[in-house]
Amino acid sequence: MDKRVYVINGPNLNLLGVRQPEVYGPETLADVEKQCVDLGSDINLDVRFLQSSHEGAIVDWIHEAREDAVGIIINPAAYSHTSVAILDALNTFDGPVIEVHISNIHKREEFRHHSFVSSRADGVIAGCGTQGYMLAMQRIDRLVRS
Ligand code: DQA
Repeated sequence: MDKRVYVINGPNLNLLGVRQPEVYGPETLADVEKQCVDLGSDINLDVRFLQSSHEGAIVDWIHEAREDAVGIIINPAAYSHTSVAILDALNTFDGPVIEVHISNIHKREEFRHHSFVSSRADGVIAGCGTQGYMLAMQRIDRLVRS
């Protein structure tokens, strides 16, 4: 049976493709989900692709992943910069965590430069556009094989 990876997306990412396409690109979240699922079937990772604009829902999914997933890919969006609750939840998860940002948060406003999640993440990908999700899938694959 394929190993499961949770791909968790935070607030406003449901509007990907519509919201500031000059920053986040033209692809929709459904496009990204399809790419993750397709790549997952090539490398034997079963993708559970999730999005919520509610912090508690994200915390609940991280708790579910404790029993259900070998790794987590998370774009916490604005919660990256504010959420100790998401950091605490990730600290209860034993497998690899890769943090993804579509834009390069370090090239943007100063308040985006710090991410609480980064202190738990095993890897951080920022500024690679939506390709960052594919890179994260490959990294999770490598880490769960080793
Ligand atoms: C983001 C960057 C965050 O600063 C922002 O709040 C987002 C998306 C990104 O993917 O580049 O919503 O996480």
